[in-house]
Amino acid sequence: MRIINIVGARPNFMKIAPLMAEYQKHDKIEPLLVHTGQHYDEEMSNLFFRELEIPEPDINLEVGSASHAVQTAEIMRAFEPVVLDYKPDIVLVVGDVNSTIACGLVAVKLGVKLAHVEAGLRSGDRSMPEEINRILTDSISDLLFCTEQSGVDNLLKEGIAKDKIHLVGHVMIDTLLKNKAKADKSTIIDELKAKGWLDGDGFAVLTLHRPSNVDNPKVFAGILDALEVIQADLPIIFPVHPRTRKNLAAGGFGKRVEAMPNLHLMDPIGYLDFLKLTSNARLVLTDSGGIQEETTILKVPCITLRDSTERPVTAELGTNQIAGARTDGILAAYKKALDTRWEKSQIPPFWDGKAAGRIVSLCIALCP
Ligand code: UD1
Repeated sequence: MRIINIVGARPNFMKIAPLMAEYQKHDKIEPLLVHTGQHYDEEMSNLFFRELEIPEPDINLEVGSASHAVQTAEIMRAFEPVVLDYKPDIVLVVGDVNSTIACGLVAVKLGVKLAHVEAGLRSGDRSMPEEINRILTDSISDLLFCTEQSGVDNLLKEGIAKDKIHLVGHVMIDTLLKNKAKADKSTIIDELKAKGWLDGDGFAVLTLHRPSNVDNPKVFAGILDALEVIQADLPIIFPVHPRTRKNLAAGGFGKRVEAMPNLHLMDPIGYLDFLKLTSNARLVLTDSGGIQEETTILKVPCITLRDSTERPVTAELGTNQIAGARTDGILAAYKKALDTRWEKSQIPPFWDGKAAGRIVSLCIALCP
């Protein structure tokens, strides 16, 4: 069975890693790994391959950054000959980035079965590019693998046939559980202490990259207002995404940020260092999707700087608060994050490190 596996952007790498490892257990499967090149910087891409022991991509389409239309179109144009040449039985895509929908469309138009890992998530916010990618990818997929029950419910509501939908748990959690002990050995906290950034009294971690937050100077300024208050209490470690770095400069926020002595900006960091930081943080502030889930399994309070989540289980069972991006909402969530006993939170069903095994078994059973 030939399976082409697609990765493109940073959050895809931790999802594909356990699948690539699982394929090794099955002689019957011949996997091909295709990197679209949507993310290409050393610390946005290569570093993750090394740390997570993902095999080198067999093919890199090297599309790079561009507008949504151009990026999506370039991926499709470059991927079509790969499918024609390799003649796979399945194309497997993960997550909700432009690479996901672009390669999904190519596959189904060539009559190849499409498997979507992390299917069914819905924020209800169609202004998010990822929401459009999710809806479209799910509507053309043959095998839909869900991480949480809400995904199953959403797909059924949208009229997807029940026999295509499988609740399997979460490959990203497989990766976290597998790498936790390795991450514990990271020296990043000692390094930040040596720099004088941390004093042993706890810290917060911040990530920010959603266009709705960082491309809009008004919204970005409101988030900075909240961070100013929080950093006076608790040092904040902030690995900065390239999009955010650009917009900090473009919005003229440099001086504002420099004036906050406990807001510590750094370049993007690798998976293991980041996991060490989040595992040990008092709280995490983020607009990422996956980090809401990682903090849930780590039982670290998470404040999500968005008005909605496509991962409701993280707020229903886990440690997540959907705070929005306005100053007052963030500060209210901050108070609650420090006060509430989050250790009572629960781990969602099937987040047990075995999702990749379930997915590969289903691929074998359903596409003999
Ligand atoms: C993409 C995904 C988003 C995901 C995020 C994780 C889409 C629509 N968005 O958003 O869902 O949460 O990745 O990071 O697919 N850049 C670099 N180096 C890189 C990659 C990007 O400098 O390696 C810069 C480029 O200037 C680019 C900008 O970052 O224009 C944004 O990159 P892009 O891939 O377009 O979107 P992300 O914001 O990263």
